[in-house]
This record gives sequence, C-alpha cells and structure tokens, in this order.
Amino acid sequence: MNRKTAFMALVTIAALLVVTAVAGAQAKKGEEGAALYKKMCAMCHGAAGAGDTAMGKKMNIRDLKSEDVQKQTDAQLEEIIAKGKGKMPGYGSKLQPAQAKDLVAYIRTLKK
Ligand code: HEC
Repeated sequence: MNRKTAFMALVTIAALLVVTAVAGAQAKKGEEGAALYKKMCAMCHGAAGAGDTAMGKKMNIRDLKSEDVQKQTDAQLEEIIAKGKGKMPGYGSKLQPAQAKDLVAYIRTLKK
C-alpha cells in the first residue's frame, strides 16, 4: 500500500466513524422520544400515532404519520407540543425543550 492509498483508507475510516456516531445519536433520540411518547402521548395519539384511540376518535386527531402532519417543520411540531393545539393540552411546562425535540424526532420515525 503506498502512502496515498493509506491516507485515503484512513479518511474513509474516519468518515465512517462519524456517520456511525451520528446515526447512533439519532437512534438514541428516537428511543428517548419513544419512551416519552408512550408515557405522555399514546393515550390520545395511539401507540403508532394513528390516533386510533377512544380519545383520538372523539377528538378527531390526525394520524401523526400522515402527510399533513409530517409536512410541518420540526419547529412547528415543537410549538404544538409545547403550546398545544385545539383540544390538545400544551406540554411546555412538563417537558424540556430537548425532550420536545426528542418527541419530534420520534414522530419523524413513525413515517415509513
Ligand atoms: C388529551 C389528549 C392528547 C394528548 C395526551 C396529546 N395530544 Fe397531541 N393532539 C391531541 C389533539 C386533540 C390534537 C389535534 C388538535 C387539533 O388539530 O385541533 C393533537 C395534535 C397533535 C399534533 C399536531 C398534529 C396535526 O394535526 O398537525 C402533534 C404533533 C401532537 N399532537 C403531538 C403530541 C405529543 C408529542 C404528545 C405527548 C407529549 C401529545 N400530542 C399528547 C390530543 C392529545
């Protein structure tokens, strides 16, 4: 292996490490969001976000996986979580801003 090839190999390995670290951090966010979601949101929004709960049907909640919900920006979704919307109570006083972000990250993982 000449020097240039060795350098390229090192650069490739470094890049792969960064990608793995970022993916790991995102997966962890998703997990924290999932735990919060299960505890605070699933009783209305349903385990998979479809809003298929008694409460969800009564309140006419949109499917969190739907295009209409997913097309909103992270900032818009964080604001809904913090301040509430319609019949949904705001969670700004119960959640840290970082937790609201984790929840949005989790909502993004629902879209498949
Ligand atoms: C008491 C029931 C209830 C709980 C608990 C609840 N929600 Fe909601 N949520 C609603 C209702 C009702 C709406 C629809 C509001 C509207 O469109 O008027 C809504 C709307 C939303 C939306 C916007 C969807 C859209 O139509 O654009 C998001 C995002 C959301 N909720 C996230 C959450 C998260 C995250 C939690 C947990 C921290 C949570 N909700 C807890 C009832 C609830």
